[in-house]
Amino acid sequence: KRPVAAPDKDLARPVTKVGVIGAGLMASQFALLFARRLQVPVVITDVSAERVDKGLSSIRDEIAKLEQKGRLDGDAANRLRALVTGTTEKAEFSDCDFVIEAVFEETAVKQQVFREIEQFVAEDAILATNTSSLSVEEIGSVLAHPERLIGFHFFNPVAVMPLVEVVRTPQASDAAVSTAFVVAKALKKNAIGSADAPGFIVNRLLAKVMGEAARAVDEGAALTDVEHAFGPLGLPMGPFELIDLVGWKVAAHVQDTMATHFPDRFYSSPNLHALAELDAPLERDKKGRITGWSKEAKK
Ligand code: CAA
Repeated sequence: KRPVAAPDKDLARPVTKVGVIGAGLMASQFALLFARRLQVPVVITDVSAERVDKGLSSIRDEIAKLEQKGRLDGDAANRLRALVTGTTEKAEFSDCDFVIEAVFEETAVKQQVFREIEQFVAEDAILATNTSSLSVEEIGSVLAHPERLIGFHFFNPVAVMPLVEVVRTPQASDAAVSTAFVVAKALKKNAIGSADAPGFIVNRLLAKVMGEAARAVDEGAALTDVEHAFGPLGLPMGPFELIDLVGWKVAAHVQDTMATHFPDRFYSSPNLHALAELDAPLERDKKGRITGWSKEAKK
């Protein structure tokens, strides 16, 4: 098969306003990143005004941190604060030409979100999903215009991680794919192209690491020993710290997806699912280093 490449950048649509669906951890980071790098208005939405407010306040906190660090001067910080707004009214998305979602990782939920947003946006607006392991083609199968949907998969922490995967479905238009690559460049991210295959590229690699780490613990290794095995390899964090960063539910979901598609190649730990139900599975010292399982997890 031919590798997924960036089509001619002249085909990219100009992006003058961005919509972000979801106001959780990743979605709020997207809103800030898009506003900061594209300098266009960004509107975020979620299922309740409380969630939208929570997202907006975490964005304001991040802007304040950037200001304190001297990464943004006062004017630039104020401009950013004005660019990002929140709403529960999808009609405010009608003039968005690029809409990205980061809602619950379930095909039906993402389909419903896009079906709804398609009623408001222009026919040529580009839609992007941040799914980490669901089929983008399946998500888009309910759309009137599936050719405008691409996978645009970021990594935590969004502000720091330099990579984004651009996922191309068989239906995707050159304009949609090209816009994704051009937007990624403006966001100062390195875009890599992927086919719409389970786990795309990065999660195929990560699921191996996380799955084998979970299997080692399931087989009797101590949590901290597995964590410490990573340091000498020069990797920035251990597998369980990475799972904690990504979110236990997301990690368990990725493991499941990979194990379902490739049962002979991937391991999905039953314990990972149980741990995902807890508030804080890990215990950490004052410096944030992992010292073991939390009391809740030990039960
Ligand atoms: N938001 C914004 N900025 C952040 C941040 C966050 N959540 N976390 C760290 N940073 C910033 C810090 O503020 C700091 O910036 P300054 O230089 O301006 O001070 C910089 O990043 C470095 O942070 P630290 O010095 O605190 O810590 P570090 O050097 O140990 O780096 C790390 C932290 C970047 C997270 C590093 O440990 C790392 O790269 N870890 C691996 C992360 C990874 O692999 N992520 C992919 C997960 S997979 C996924 O997300 C998707 C999926 O589909 C499952």
